[in-house]
Amino acid sequence: MSELSVKHLLGIKYITKEDIDLIFQTADNFKEVINRPIKKVPSLRDITIANLFFENSTRTKLSFELAEKRLSADVINFSAAASSVKKGETLIDTVNNILSMKVDMVVMRHPNPGAGVFLSKHINASIVNAGDGAHEHPTQALLDSYSIRERLGDVGGKNVVIVGDILHSRVALSNIYALKLQGANVKVCGPKTLMPKYIESLGVEVELNLRKALEWCDVANMLRVQNERMDISYFPSTREYTQQYGVDKALLNSLDKEIVIMHPGPINRGVEITSDVADSDQAIILNQVENGVAVRMAVLYLLASKIKQ
Ligand code: CP
Repeated sequence: MSELSVKHLLGIKYITKEDIDLIFQTADNFKEVINRPIKKVPSLRDITIANLFFENSTRTKLSFELAEKRLSADVINFSAAASSVKKGETLIDTVNNILSMKVDMVVMRHPNPGAGVFLSKHINASIVNAGDGAHEHPTQALLDSYSIRERLGDVGGKNVVIVGDILHSRVALSNIYALKLQGANVKVCGPKTLMPKYIESLGVEVELNLRKALEWCDVANMLRVQNERMDISYFPSTREYTQQYGVDKALLNSLDKEIVIMHPGPINRGVEITSDVADSDQAIILNQVENGVAVRMAVLYLLASKIKQ
């Protein structure tokens, strides 16, 4: 297969295993490029990309911008906090105004689940979802799987546990879709109050006991508690959460094998993982960030080649 089955990347739910394989093969080439002394290729020289961030971001925003620049695209950046959205402009009006400046692709982060799908019904440009509320974060899941593949050789057949605030996490949902498509075994672990009711219908098992989950897994993807998406308390205190669901080096050392630790960032050090875990050789957190650039270059390149047809 030499092209993606989709025009937009709105979620892992909408793509196939073959799409993921193609993205990873393409990312392998771009990873080689970005480790050269000259890190740039002219692949997207005629393409203009707008990065529309209606919600805060460090990693995703910088990673997309760098990926676009490494591909020689023209890039414009939009941050809702400093825009006319504050004066009451709608999402469609904002985006149509930006597109009238001859923009080909839109990378969008938005607090509302489904914002990318909604936009795709109203505009012609290709859209990449950079995180929509508690729904999906497809490029994060792709870079996570790419990083597992890099560390362990393959994703298929691996035991992966996603630990923490599953209820509010777009990273969890996109990872579940991506890992299942590639044949991994997936469990979720965390307080029962932070488990969506539908979670088992996605083909994952719930394990409430962290030690049991860690004993089972090859990879633990540790998630942050998303306090900004909570309007009530889901557990008695942060201290109690950490006692039950936090990972420290003593816990890892007490296992009879070495597991891989992942985290999408931002980390709340001392809550879901301690610094001695986050900064250890078992953690591939900065490899995930590094791989994010190559994976996003691959996604943009493959979507752009569909525009050019
Ligand atoms: N992983 C992630 O999406 O981080 P940011 O919110 O900083 O982009």
